[in-house]
Amino acid sequence: MKYKLLRLTCVVALLFSIHMQGQLKKDAQKQMDTYVSSLLKNMTLEEKLGQLNLVTPIARTGPFATKNASDKMKDGSAGNIFGLHGSPSSIHMRLALSENSRLKIPLLSGLDIVHGFKTVFPIPLGLSCSWDPALIEKTARIAAVEASALGYNWTFSPMVDITRDPRWGRVMEGSGEDPYLGSLIARAMVKGYQGSDLNDDTSLIACVKHFALYGAPEAGRDYNTADMSRLTMYQYYLPPYKAAVDAGAGSIMVSFNDIEGIPATSNKWLLTDLLRKEWGFKGFVVSDFNGIQELMNHGVAADLKEAAELSLTAGVDMDMVSEALIASLKQSVKDGHVSMDQINAACRRVLEAKYKLGLFTNPYRNYDPAKADLVSLTEENRKVAKDATLRSIVLLKNDKATLPLKKNAKIALIGPFANNQNEMFSSWTLKGDVPSVVTIYEGLKKQNPDITYVQGTQVSGDPGLKLKGEPFDAALQEELVAAAMNVAKQADVIVVVLGESSAMSGEARSRTDLSLPNCQSELLKRLKSIGKPVVLLLVNGRPMTLADDLPYADAVLDIWRPGTEAGSAVADILFGAYNPTGKLTMTFPRSVGQIPIYYNTKNTGRPYTEGTEGFFSSYIDQSNTPLYPFGYGLSYTKFIYGAITLNASVLKGNNANLTASITITNSGSYAGEETVQLYIADPVASVSRAVKELKGFQKVFLQPGESKKVNFTITTEELKFFNSDLNWDWESGTFLVYIGGNSQSCEKAEFVWKK
Ligand code: NOJ
Repeated sequence: MKYKLLRLTCVVALLFSIHMQGQLKKDAQKQMDTYVSSLLKNMTLEEKLGQLNLVTPIARTGPFATKNASDKMKDGSAGNIFGLHGSPSSIHMRLALSENSRLKIPLLSGLDIVHGFKTVFPIPLGLSCSWDPALIEKTARIAAVEASALGYNWTFSPMVDITRDPRWGRVMEGSGEDPYLGSLIARAMVKGYQGSDLNDDTSLIACVKHFALYGAPEAGRDYNTADMSRLTMYQYYLPPYKAAVDAGAGSIMVSFNDIEGIPATSNKWLLTDLLRKEWGFKGFVVSDFNGIQELMNHGVAADLKEAAELSLTAGVDMDMVSEALIASLKQSVKDGHVSMDQINAACRRVLEAKYKLGLFTNPYRNYDPAKADLVSLTEENRKVAKDATLRSIVLLKNDKATLPLKKNAKIALIGPFANNQNEMFSSWTLKGDVPSVVTIYEGLKKQNPDITYVQGTQVSGDPGLKLKGEPFDAALQEELVAAAMNVAKQADVIVVVLGESSAMSGEARSRTDLSLPNCQSELLKRLKSIGKPVVLLLVNGRPMTLADDLPYADAVLDIWRPGTEAGSAVADILFGAYNPTGKLTMTFPRSVGQIPIYYNTKNTGRPYTEGTEGFFSSYIDQSNTPLYPFGYGLSYTKFIYGAITLNASVLKGNNANLTASITITNSGSYAGEETVQLYIADPVASVSRAVKELKGFQKVFLQPGESKKVNFTITTEELKFFNSDLNWDWESGTFLVYIGGNSQSCEKAEFVWKK
C-alpha cells in the first residue's frame, strides 16, 4: 500500500514536471514571439533585407568577397558575417560594427568549423570510422567551446551528405555512404555544437549541409547535377538531413546542385514542402556561397532579381555573398513578385536564431580572448583528440603480423607527410593551431628514439594533377629517393607515410585518378625491393585505389588526415599500446571504373556470382567486389563469429520483437575491440530493396581467449522502408539478418514476420 502510494506520487510528480517543462517552453516561445514581433514592427524594409544578407571579408571558397563588408555591417545592410579572421581584437571590432546601425541588431558570426577549431580532430570521414557518435559529439562540443570564446556563434557543419563516389573531393567532410550511421553522427554533431541549450554562451548554431543530395554529383565532379529517384532520395540520401533537423539543428545550408532539374536554391518542393511542411523544420535556411546569383548559370533565372525572387519564394531565408536579396527585393515587393509576408517570415527566422543564441542580451556571448587561451588545446581537449584519432584509424592490411612493431626496432621513417604539421590538417582546418601538432616523426621518436626520418619523395609529379606550390623537380627526386634507400637499408623496418596532400581533397578537389601519385608509388616499390618489412601509413581524404600498391606494403594503416594528436596516436598504434578499432564507412574500390560502389546496392535482375561467366551484372575485366568493403577494418587480434541464434523464427504484428544473438570470441593474442554490425535484408518486397542495410552495431571488448554474447533487438522499425508511395512501412515476408565484422563477411539467419 505504502509503495503504491509512493509510486503514484512519483508518477504525479513526473507528469507535473513534464507539464511544467512544456509550459516553460510555451512561455519561452511566447516571449520570443513578442520580442521578435515588436522588433519587426520597428524595422524598415531595408533593415529587414539587411538581416537576410550574409557577407564575408574573404573569397575562400567562392568567386569573390563582399565589397565594403564593414560599411554594410555598420549601416545594417549586412546583418551577418562569416569567415572573420585576424586577431581576436580585430574580430571583436568587426562584430561591434553593428552597434553603429540604427537598431543595433547583433550579428551572426559564422565559420566553417568542420573538424575542430584550435584542437583539430581527424577529418569527418576519418572520425566516422570510429563508429562512435558519443565521441564525435564530444569533438563538436569542444569545437564549440573553443570557437565561441573567439566570437563565433554559428558553424557551417555538420556536412551530412551521403557519398558513394570517392572522386568527389568533399567525401572527406562527411560520414560516408550509410544513412543509418550517417544519421547517428549527424544527430551527435548537432547536439555537440548546440549543447543542451542554444542560450548557453558556449553553443554554436549548427548548419546542416548541403541540402540536398550534394554528395551525389554526376561523375564525382564538384557542383555537378545530382539526379536520382525520389525513392533513392528518401531511402538513402535524405535520412541524415532529417536526423539533424529532428535533433534541433538551427540552420540548414542549401546545396549548389539541381534536383530534378530545379536548383536546390530555388527548389520549393525541397525547401518548403519537404523541409518545412513534411519535416517541420523551424530554423533558417541559408544559400551556399553565391548560390543565388548562380541560379543564372543554372539557367533558371534571367537576372539577379529573378534569382532573388525564386530563391526567397522557394524558402531561402539568407543569401550567402551574392547580395541578390538586398539588391533586388525592394523592387520585387513593388512589382508584386514577392510579398512583405514572405520577407517578414524570412527575417523572423533569422531574428529568432539570434534571440535563441541570446545575442540580444549579450551580443558577444562567450567572446573573451583570455578565456579562449584557457579553454583551447587543453590537456582534456587533446586527450579527446588523441582518442578520436586512435579510433578513426583503420588497419587495412597486416600480413605476417607485421604490426605492432617491436618497441626497440630500428625504424626508417620516410615520406613527405611524416614530419609535416600542416599536412596533418585538411583544406578545411581554418583555425587549427599548427605549432601544437604532434607530427608522426615526433610521436614515434618519443616512444622509440632509434628512428631516422627522411622525406623520400615529393608529393606528385603527375602532369595532370593541378597542385599549387613547388613544381616537381626530377633531380631533387633522385636525391630524395637515394637518401631514403640509404636510411631504409640500415633499418629493421620501413615506415612510409604516403597519400594525398591536404590540397588534394576538399571543395573543388575532385579527382579522376585515385591512386597514389606516381613518384610515391615508385618510392614504395624501391623501398620494398630492399626486403625489409614495409608499413604504409596512408594520409588521405577519400578512399583510394591501392590495388597496385598493396603488394609493396606488408601492413597498411589508413590514418586519414589525423589532426593535432597525429603522432601520439599513430605511435600508440604502431607500437601496440592501442589495438586498431576503426571500420571503413566508405567502400574502397579496386579501380575508378567500379565507381559508384557501395555496399547497400540492389541485386539486379541478373545478379553475378564471382567466378561465373555469362550475361550477368558484372565487368569482363574486373571483379564486382571492392578492394575493402564498408565496415571493414582489421585488428591485431582475430575475432571469430559463432552462428546467429534467433529467439523466434516467426513473428506477428507491430508490437513483436526479436532478439538476434551471436557469440564473438577473441582467438588472437591481443585484447581488442570489435564493432559488431547488424544488417537486414528484405529479399521480396513491393519495391526492389538493397542486398542488405545496416540497422545496428555494438562494440565489444574482449581479452585474448574471451567470448561474449551480443544481443540485438529487432523491431518492425528495422524492417521498414520507403515504398513507391514514399510511405515508411514494412511488408510481411521473410527477412534475412546478417551479423559480422564488415558488410561482406557476415553470419546469416532468417525469420518470417507477418502483419
Ligand atoms: C562553400 C561550401 O560549399 C560550404 O560548405 C561552405 O560552408 C561555404 N562555402 C562557406 O565557406
